[in-house]
Amino acid sequence: MEKVTLTIDNIKVEVPKDYTILQAAKLAGIDIPTLCYLKDINEIGACRVCLVEVEGARALQASCVHPVAEGMVVKTNTKKVRDARKSNVELILSNHNRECLTCVRNKNCELQNIADELGISEIPFEGEKTETVIDDQSYSIVRDQSKCILCGRCVNVCKNVQGIGILDFVNRGFETRVAPAFEKSMADVPCIYCGQCITACPVGALKEKDDIDKVWDVLDNPDVHVVVQTAPAVRAA
Ligand code: FES
Repeated sequence: MEKVTLTIDNIKVEVPKDYTILQAAKLAGIDIPTLCYLKDINEIGACRVCLVEVEGARALQASCVHPVAEGMVVKTNTKKVRDARKSNVELILSNHNRECLTCVRNKNCELQNIADELGISEIPFEGEKTETVIDDQSYSIVRDQSKCILCGRCVNVCKNVQGIGILDFVNRGFETRVAPAFEKSMADVPCIYCGQCITACPVGALKEKDDIDKVWDVLDNPDVHVVVQTAPAVRAA
């Protein structure tokens, strides 16, 4: 594999030429925060938390999708970078249900962790909020739209790991949602309840249902054929 040499935060690193800046930084021992990124599964540059400065580029670049190049010079921790990351996380939080204390992911939430690392305590952007839609009709998965950050991780794990494709982006602009087609309930689509979407979700927008009786109802139902999937659980790299 052909290699290129670039400089990240004054460290020279040689990497395969098909690497992204994020991968190269990792190899150099430099930590860049990410939120929407899920290695090999969700590399869509949606959240803009992984922004870096690339010498010669007019704007900050999303390191998770920006390819490396010979002689490239990258800075990952300038004030400009830190301010931009902070603003982007504040914007995400401005349309996020922030009832963290009662959330199942409290203290285990990637958004909460990043906000903490960036020193965010107040949200300067207040405006319209996404409508709160809670879909708890399925046997085992609860979907809370007010916590979804539209990172796409559940969409791509459902489509590309499980090969099911139940979840996807619907609508456009501020009306964009992650939901089954036509915004149906999870109960009304052929979801196999594998739970990969819950594992991939960085926040509490998808969670396991704690109503175990409903799960036993379905397992006891002779008309229901339960498919057990054994794909490995997905973790952020
Ligand atoms: Fe790179 Fe979200 S992690 S854009």
